[in-house]
Amino acid sequence: MMEQLKDKKPISHFFIMTGLLLLFSTLAFGVVGAFQYVFPGLFRNSFSFEKIRPLHVSSAVFWILITACGAVIYYLGAVKNGVWSVKLAKWQWLLFTIAVIAILVSYIMGIFGGREYWEFHPIFAIPIVIAWILFLINVIKSVKIFRKQPVYVWMWLTGTIFFLFTYLESYLWLIPYFRSNIVHDMTIQWKSYGSMVGCWNMLIYGSSIYLMDKISGSEKYSYSGISFALYFLGLFNLMFNWGHHIYTLPAPKYIQYISYSVSMTELLLLGRIIYYWKSSVNTARKHYHILSYRFLLAADLWIFLTLILAIAMSIPAINIYTHGTHITVAHTMGATIGINTFLLLAFVCNIFNIHQPTTEKRITTGLYITLIALPIFWFSLIIAGVLKSNWQMHHSNEIPFSVMMYSLHNYFVVFLISGILLAIGFFIIVGNLLATFFNNQPTKNNITNA
Ligand code: HEM
Repeated sequence: MMEQLKDKKPISHFFIMTGLLLLFSTLAFGVVGAFQYVFPGLFRNSFSFEKIRPLHVSSAVFWILITACGAVIYYLGAVKNGVWSVKLAKWQWLLFTIAVIAILVSYIMGIFGGREYWEFHPIFAIPIVIAWILFLINVIKSVKIFRKQPVYVWMWLTGTIFFLFTYLESYLWLIPYFRSNIVHDMTIQWKSYGSMVGCWNMLIYGSSIYLMDKISGSEKYSYSGISFALYFLGLFNLMFNWGHHIYTLPAPKYIQYISYSVSMTELLLLGRIIYYWKSSVNTARKHYHILSYRFLLAADLWIFLTLILAIAMSIPAINIYTHGTHITVAHTMGATIGINTFLLLAFVCNIFNIHQPTTEKRITTGLYITLIALPIFWFSLIIAGVLKSNWQMHHSNEIPFSVMMYSLHNYFVVFLISGILLAIGFFIIVGNLLATFFNNQPTKNNITNA
């Protein structure tokens, strides 16, 4: 590692390297979790599902967050001739890395104490908050002036500022006043989770627009009306999309309807931007950036699939059925894999400047494997979810839970097999990207100080 630091690899590459290692652990723990679906009670004494799930989900969340930060630092550096302080970025990376290692080790040791999705002990939130404050200072200071900025700069600024606010909000339950009323407590919790996703989406969508313009060699989207529409919808969304997480709580229905339509319009706009962008890229530029181009198109496909599922889930009569079933898991994983992960991999391929033909070929093979496996993986969860919800609503009195779960066994087997295939595809991609990080010097034409 010290060798790598001496090589003066940009700090953004270290964020990405950490992110890729986390993607690796996401996949490994995901596969173990899928085995536990098929063989309930597997590793019950050492690595029960209660441990594996947070190990998997936290790895996934930090893969997304840390890599998104790396991409923003790199691209902001490219736009602004270097970020304001590389030193600050190094501290941010160090704090994140220490916090994430401590969190994963604490899970393995059976130490919890947080809430769903952030199941780690709240003490670990402290280094994460400090790291985020450093990031916030760096982003604001690097942007310097606010007039006539391209849309992606606004997206990065907004995502960074709001994330700090909503992350802190997600810990309000530590104060007795907030946790004394269950409805308020749950509302705040889901509001903050929804907003946090909105914030990292701002970082990721901003980087996508930057990358699309870079690939096409124009500034078509950086200042376009449709991108700013996406920005304002995203802003509204990160403030109000929590409405669709609280169907089961007694809140006014109009909040849910507004938030649902905004979330979906946001996806529709992003999907549309990528869809039309692809025809504006000339053949030479497309071939030069072929890996990023392919990952962007893969994400576009998944934006539309996620949209279809989201539209179905937004119908109140259907939404009631989906709660606590595998349909929600399909929705979450479909979005975090199909949209977030594919977009992030598009940035990584661009930032690592991969043009070595064998590496390009292997990563493309990995991508095609994931594209075959992901729909099967996704559908198996949806079908299992539909069957479970049917039981929940109509047959839970006469058919015991264990019998219903047994009837889902075949779908879980399909989930496991397609999940292993999916993991293999991603392992090929991650392995080649990590090999590039550890073997290659950064190429001059693609490097900023960040
Ligand atoms: C890029 C890769 C992946 C990402 C980003 C990801 C993300 C997630 C997220 C966010 C959840 C929480 C879902 C929720 O509570 O609604 C989840 C759950 C889960 N994932 Fe993944 N996942 C990935 C790959 C995989 C793979 C390859 C497998 C299996 C082979 C897998 C198996 C599982 C299982 C078993 C759960 C637990 C579901 C439950 O609680 O019942 N994941 N994943």
